[in-house]
Amino acid sequence: MKFFLDTANIEQIKEINDLGQLDGVTTNPTLIAREKAGFRQRIEEICAVVKGPVSAEVVALDYEGMMKEAREVASWAENVVVKIPMTPAGMKATKALAQEGISVNATLIFSLPQALIAAKAGAAFISPFIGRIDDIGQDGMELVADCVSMVDNFMFDSEIIAASIRGLPHVIESIRCRAHIATVPYSTLMSLFKHPLTDKGIDSFMKDWNSANLGKII
Ligand code: E4P
Repeated sequence: MKFFLDTANIEQIKEINDLGQLDGVTTNPTLIAREKAGFRQRIEEICAVVKGPVSAEVVALDYEGMMKEAREVASWAENVVVKIPMTPAGMKATKALAQEGISVNATLIFSLPQALIAAKAGAAFISPFIGRIDDIGQDGMELVADCVSMVDNFMFDSEIIAASIRGLPHVIESIRCRAHIATVPYSTLMSLFKHPLTDKGIDSFMKDWNSANLGKII
C-alpha cells in the first residue's frame, strides 16, 4: 500500500519525503486555503519535491469550467492529478479528461455506486472518505473494502485511495483490506513509526550496552 500525504504544507511534505515514505500528495481547497501561498505556486512547489502523483482540485462546478480548470492545473507539472468531485458534471469531465490522457482523482466518494461510476468514467484514483462516513454513524472502512473488491472484480485500472483518515486504526484497516493507497495527515503518518515497546526496547538495549562499557562502535 502506498502512502500519500494529505496536506498542502510544504515543510511536512519535505520531511516525509526525506524519510523515503512519500508516494504522492493529495490536496483539497480547504488544505490549500489553510496555507498562505497561491494555488499554482504551492502545487508547483510540491511537484518539485514529490515524484509521485500530486492531486490538485478544481473549484468550478459546471462541466465547461471543470474542463478549463483541469487542463490548466494539469499543465503545471507532469505529475499533477486533477481532483474532481463526484457529480454528473464531474464524471462527464472525468471521462473527457481521461480520453485526453489527464489523470483524475474522483473525490468525495461516499457510496459503492459512486465509486463504480467513477471507475467507469476512467478515474485513475477513487477516494472514499472514511472519517466523514464514520462521522455519520456508518462504516467508512466497509466502503473502502467494497471499492477495492469492485475494481478487482470488474478489472478496472483505478486505484482506491483510503481518504479522510483520522488515525492509526484507519491505516491498519486500509492495509488489511488491500487499499492501493492511504492518504494520511502528517501527524498520523509520523505516528505509524511509533510503538511504546520499540521505545522501551531501544532504552533497555542502550542501558545494557552502556553498563557493559562497550564504548562506541566506531
Ligand atoms: C482526500 O483526498 C481529502 O483531501 C481528505 O482526505 C479529506 O479528509 P477530511 O475529512 O479529514 O477533511
